[in-house]
Amino acid sequence: MAIMNKQITIGSVSGNDEIRAGYVLMTLQLPRSFPDPHPGQFVMIRIAGLRDPFLSRPLSIFAFSRGRSHCLVRLLYRVTGRGTQILAGLIPGSQVEIFGPLGTGYVVDPARENRVLIAGGIGVAPLSLLAQHLCKLSGRGVNPAVVYLGAKTADEIVGLDQLQKYCSGIRICTDDGSSGAKSLVTRAFQKDMKKYNPAQTAIYACGPKPMLRALAGMLKDRYFCQVSLEERMACGVGACMGCAVAVRDENGDRAYRRVCADGPVFELKDVIWE
Ligand SMILES: Cc1cc2nc3c(=O)[nH]c(=O)nc-3n(C[C@H](O)[C@H](O)[C@H](O)COP(=O)(O)OP(=O)(O)OC[C@H]3O[C@@H](n4cnc5c(N)ncnc54)[C@H](O)[C@@H]3O)c2cc1C
Ligand code: FES
Repeated sequence: MAIMNKQITIGSVSGNDEIRAGYVLMTLQLPRSFPDPHPGQFVMIRIAGLRDPFLSRPLSIFAFSRGRSHCLVRLLYRVTGRGTQILAGLIPGSQVEIFGPLGTGYVVDPARENRVLIAGGIGVAPLSLLAQHLCKLSGRGVNPAVVYLGAKTADEIVGLDQLQKYCSGIRICTDDGSSGAKSLVTRAFQKDMKKYNPAQTAIYACGPKPMLRALAGMLKDRYFCQVSLEERMACGVGACMGCAVAVRDENGDRAYRRVCADGPVFELKDVIWE
């Protein structure tokens, strides 16, 4: 079934494991026709045939692989409410409707050889696929991107094993110091900032709004930085404007962009924080 040139694909859950309290890693088997996602893209997911809750939930693609007979898509999610609770209860063999891949992805500029990934909490999800992608591009086993991975406590660090497969330098920070440095992830990055030449550096981030806002204040338009934004979504395809965020347009004027269709990845310098 096609909606606005996007496909709804029926997927089969092959794993749905709580990897940390409240955090679940879902593995989905999808037909080979599912397109290769760009890092930063997401899917809308709901249980096949179930209309309660009616709306699908947006989740970033955490990992992707293509086999001979099918694709595997991994989603890493935090259980926050009813929709994710229902997803967390799915057992292997359950069927889900997947709509996507949707939205824009992170842009990788080959000229910017220093790549810095900054993840706050579950914001690690889209950045993991980016790390996997950068690794493929580099043609080496491990890519030289540096990752700053922040969480409230050691118990809330997720996605680390996936990042370790693809990245050489990972700086862990927790708010309480229970793992890595006792620091906000943005502060840890700020301490190292002078190591990164703005002309040669690309920064990719995802995390809670206060983290991204702090990053914007720190970078002050000097660096190329793309962020993936999260807003509540309804249609997921640009039709309802429910996910609009304020940005500066090409002329510097205030405008609204839809996170689902114009994003979720935006240049940090364009985002207006309200
Ligand atoms: C593009 C995109 C990609 C995302 N990727 C992931 C991901 O990879 N992993 C993941 O765990 N979550 C991700 N999210 C957030 C996820 O979609 C929400 O947590 C989920 O929809 C909540 O649904 P629910 O029914 O469980 O909770 P609800 O009952 O709908 O809400 C529970 C609580 O979560 C808050 N909430 C709901 N939706 C969002 C949202 N979009 N952003 C921030 N707060 C929200 C509500 O305000 C409420 O406080 C993404 C969101 C977007 C827009
Ligand atoms: S969720 Fe409807 S326009 Fe984005």
